[in-house]
Amino acid sequence: ACGGGGDDSGDGGSGNGLVIGFAQVGAESAWRTANSDSVKAAAEAAGHTLKFVDGQQEQETQISAVRDFITQQVDAIVLAPVVETGWTDVLQEAEDAGIPVILADRGVEAADEDLYVTRLGSDFAEEGRKAGAWAAETFAADADGTKILELQGTTGSAPANDRKAGFFEVLDSEGLNYEIVDSQSGNFTAEEGKAVMETFITTHGLDGIDLLYAHNDEMGLGAIQAIEEAGKVPGKDIQIIIVDGSKAGFEAGVAGKLNYIVECNPVFGDQLMEVVESVVNGDEVEKFTPVEEGVFDATQFEAELPNRQF
Ligand code: AHR
Repeated sequence: ACGGGGDDSGDGGSGNGLVIGFAQVGAESAWRTANSDSVKAAAEAAGHTLKFVDGQQEQETQISAVRDFITQQVDAIVLAPVVETGWTDVLQEAEDAGIPVILADRGVEAADEDLYVTRLGSDFAEEGRKAGAWAAETFAADADGTKILELQGTTGSAPANDRKAGFFEVLDSEGLNYEIVDSQSGNFTAEEGKAVMETFITTHGLDGIDLLYAHNDEMGLGAIQAIEEAGKVPGKDIQIIIVDGSKAGFEAGVAGKLNYIVECNPVFGDQLMEVVESVVNGDEVEKFTPVEEGVFDATQFEAELPNRQF
């Protein structure tokens, strides 16, 4: 693995004044915008130059960005990979060029673990387990089986894969009697979340559906619109879990339109700059640093809303 390779860039090894390339996923959610803002502000505050590329949720765009960063011989590359697979070649190219790659937010498949230095971001499986623990408890007494709709994130992305796996892992280990009525990707956007929910409603109706598990706020908020347009009451006729915890998500919670929020924290720019500096300085770093995240039920929405940063 590339371990940083010391400092030969003439910036004195203090970690200041680095040139950092950041290949971001896109701008698909409030979470993502807050994350981009956090990283940009932290780089500026630390005196680094950030070359920022919006990948528009396209892996090809991100791969080109990484190749450009290699050509420009940046000091470090930060990559938030839109999906988990397909990174081997470009990560190898960065390693061959001696440029360390730090993953932010999302991860890559285990086979590529040696081709990046470290990942800073959420434990998505744990987020899924938190959602699953609430569902298992909430529907424990549901004798005829809990009927579940799932709005998955971007197909093949780490948060979609892991939020799904963690959620059903806990439902199974807790022995909940449940049925997945339907599960489709809404690509982490409000528009697609709403469209997929409309299809769910057309295909299955909403009568007897107990729970919607949406892998992020945007898809959950889009689905809420679809449910309301179908003449049903979100949060009551169908219970809803979302992941992220944006202001808009909490506002929907305060309005009684959803029932549980699993936090995913995008505001880790300062922590990311520290990790990048350590890596460039050749310090030992953990392979994975999780960011701290909580959970919120209906009794907590109102009090928590003013604390939300995005
Ligand atoms: O990778 C983190 C996820 O990406 C967030 O949950 C989602 O809102 C974003 O698009």
